[in-house]
Amino acid sequence: MAEFDVIVIGGGPGGYVCAIRCAQLGLKTACVEGRETLGGTCLNVGCIPSKALLHATHSLHEAEHNFAKMGLKGKSPSVDWDQMQSYKQDVVDGNTKGIEFLFKKNKVTWLKGWGSIPAAGQVKVGEDVHTAKNIIVASGSVPSSLPGIDVDEDTIVTSTGALSLKKIPKSVVVIGAGVIGLEMGSVYKRLGADVTVVEFLDAITPGMDAEVARSFQKMLTKQGINFVMGAAVQGVSKGKNKNTVTYKLRKDESEASIDAEVVLVATGRKPYTDGLGLEALGVELEKRGQIKIDDHWQTSVKGIYAIGDAVVGPMLAHKAEDEGMAVAEVVAGKHGHVNYGVIPGVIYSSPEVASVGKTEEQLKEEGRAYKVGKFSFMGNARAKAIFQGDGFVKILADKATDRILGAHIIGPCAGDLIHEICVAMEFGASAQDLALTCHAHPTYSEAVREAALACGDGAIHA
Ligand code: FAD
Ligand code: NAI
Repeated sequence: MAEFDVIVIGGGPGGYVCAIRCAQLGLKTACVEGRETLGGTCLNVGCIPSKALLHATHSLHEAEHNFAKMGLKGKSPSVDWDQMQSYKQDVVDGNTKGIEFLFKKNKVTWLKGWGSIPAAGQVKVGEDVHTAKNIIVASGSVPSSLPGIDVDEDTIVTSTGALSLKKIPKSVVVIGAGVIGLEMGSVYKRLGADVTVVEFLDAITPGMDAEVARSFQKMLTKQGINFVMGAAVQGVSKGKNKNTVTYKLRKDESEASIDAEVVLVATGRKPYTDGLGLEALGVELEKRGQIKIDDHWQTSVKGIYAIGDAVVGPMLAHKAEDEGMAVAEVVAGKHGHVNYGVIPGVIYSSPEVASVGKTEEQLKEEGRAYKVGKFSFMGNARAKAIFQGDGFVKILADKATDRILGAHIIGPCAGDLIHEICVAMEFGASAQDLALTCHAHPTYSEAVREAALACGDGAIHA
């Protein structure tokens, strides 16, 4: 039994970042993690392994489709799936060990095992009960499946199984055209599988700016991904060599089915709070299972805080990290702050899709007067050189004040480009501020400047 200023439960991006910041602020800190390795969903079975597979398969796609155009002729690489898996695992291991190193460097104690909170101020790990002035719950989330589907993580999988399939399947049905479905669908499409995405709604990626979502779907269709839209999946039955997904089309209630070697269930994630003992403590939950918090991330029980996927808001690693840093400041007696209006979202497909702030649909709903500055990557020399002229940058600015309200990018390195707009928004910048900033030539970021120019007197290369 030991005494701490802070015990963080969960070693994912929310928890480990929080623990490191607490220690940096002079608090005696421990972090409880039940997995064998630190880093949570993100490093072990989420962001990092998926990006490794996206990178490897994007490289394959480039070799197969674009190398010859650049005069790089010869046989395309063949795929060694076991090697690709071990490359992915090396990337994961390097990152999870990195967090262990950071814990040692910052003197954060890793309490290995599953933690529970028997009483406010106490955390139990195995048989040991530790005391802490502050407890921060960062227990994350798990995949949520649908009734009528028995996930076996073999051929009926969530994202976790999809990252480690035994072999490359010939066909994949993805249930849900959200971020996981489209990223993992892209991976298996590039590896040669026949990929069909079945989506309940009439548009992909719910919540995304509708114009961007439409373009994105067109591009994915061009890449060979099939979409069945407006279809509510009813169930999946497991056969000997194939699985059958049945769905009902919402427009006419007609039923249909589709067979595939592998079915990926990507219908969202739910907060994970099992075994923490929150109910007995009187910690209130939201209707959808998230831990209820106030403006300072404190739960309904004093001294117990919660952050990350376990609370409301976008289930994103960087949102969890920001909350982790902010709550560390709060328990250290400082002012923690997260600007929820400026949290970027990125889909790491090819092209990448990135957004921040309001969508056009949200602005319309709010009745706000806005203007749109758009610029196509066709007018960007660098994007054309890498055969990625298809996308665009769209900046939404207040009609009267020119203040940037949102931005949506589909195109090369969109996930990096979005951050200059995030910084601009943090500083309350106008589109003209971006437009007057010199951007190096030739870079993809010139497209951002051109979109900002398009909010005013017009883009140059349009
Ligand atoms: P988690 O990362 O889920 O970590 C929680 C940790 O707490 C887990 O390790 C769990 O074992 C531990 N834990 C839970 N209960 C206890 C307990 N009682 N005792 C001890 N330990 C406990 N987000 C992005 O921003 N970018 C991406 O590219 C991206 N890609 C993703 C790809 C996939 C396939 C998936 C599934 C998710 C992806 N995400 C991505 C989402 C991202 O992984 C999560 O938003 C992020 O991990 C949330 O961090 P967290 O710290 O709140 O929770
Ligand atoms: P999601 O919420 O993004 O998408 C789920 C999709 O499934 C929705 O489009 C929904 O309409 C559809 N759906 C639900 N029920 C259905 C049914 N019965 N039939 C057909 N379609 C159905 O969830 P997803 O993709 O599982 O991702 C979970 C979380 O992980 C997301 O919140 C995301 O933020 C995070 N994530 C982030 C990544 C990134 O930042 N690049 C990458 C991967 C995941």
